[in-house]
Amino acid sequence: MVNMNQNEELNVSFDSSSLKNEFDSVSRKIRILFWEVPLYDILMGFWERRVNTDILDMADGISEKDEIIELGSGTGQLSCLIAKKYPNSNLLCVDFSARMSELTHERLNNQFKSQSQRCSSKKKFKVLNMDCFELDESSCKYDLLVSTFLFDLQSSMQIRKLLLICERLLKDDGRILVATLDASPSDSTLPKFCKSYFNLTKQIYEKFHSSATVRKIFMSSLGYYTHCRPISINKYLSDIPSLQLLGVKYSTIRVLGIPLLWVKITEIGRR
Ligand SMILES: C[S@@+](CC[C@H](N)C(=O)[O-])C[C@H]1O[C@@H](n2cnc3c(N)ncnc32)[C@H](O)[C@@H]1O
Repeated sequence: MVNMNQNEELNVSFDSSSLKNEFDSVSRKIRILFWEVPLYDILMGFWERRVNTDILDMADGISEKDEIIELGSGTGQLSCLIAKKYPNSNLLCVDFSARMSELTHERLNNQFKSQSQRCSSKKKFKVLNMDCFELDESSCKYDLLVSTFLFDLQSSMQIRKLLLICERLLKDDGRILVATLDASPSDSTLPKFCKSYFNLTKQIYEKFHSSATVRKIFMSSLGYYTHCRPISINKYLSDIPSLQLLGVKYSTIRVLGIPLLWVKITEIGRR
């Protein structure tokens, strides 16, 4: 069910098991010439690459022994970039789709092909197939928590809950980096025509997102429909006094080099 609220943010609600099934389904591999590629990477992941490199730039300052957690790691694109950039940090990837978790694991293993790297990587990364709403306070504390396109899948209530979970997972001086489709493309450095352009593309995306017909076509042909919708993460952040906004960077989802959707990378810390 989808409808629009006053803040111009689409409301979403679906049960977690059907969402999990959709991600299991879209992570199946399909053959393209000599390669087997997860369907998700063709539909979504490929276009999200720039966001992954941009979020990684914001993660600068991580020290060798830091503990990193990624929530909703999907096919493991960002996980691999993190593991490559910070080979001596411990990385935990969490995803509730069993197939997505397998892909992350496979990708991380493949990345560390040489014998010596494989030995050390085994100690350095772990993939947990679990719902991140079930992560509890007894879990380890992290220096860095990253998450791309997970918050914008969740309902308003779940976003608040997820931010509180993230807060509990953080060390005192830990940082959260969250990438979301942005409901209010308002970067002050952007020229006016760019803002108007991204507002327009956002509105078109939201029209498609809430169209029952488009959804039906996607579901019947692919068994998956993108549930991410633009959100205003600041709105939720202001409800949690123990967290503060540290910084913002903007990025885009690009298709064939053309920027189509505005993405906000938000850096959050403890107050
Ligand atoms: C839109 S995809 C993004 C994947 C990846 N971060 C990327 O940017 O390519 C969202 C991912 O989060 C996972 N996910 C959704 N809800 C989750 C939850 N409650 N707990 C753990 N993983 C979840 C899905 O299985 C999926 O792999």
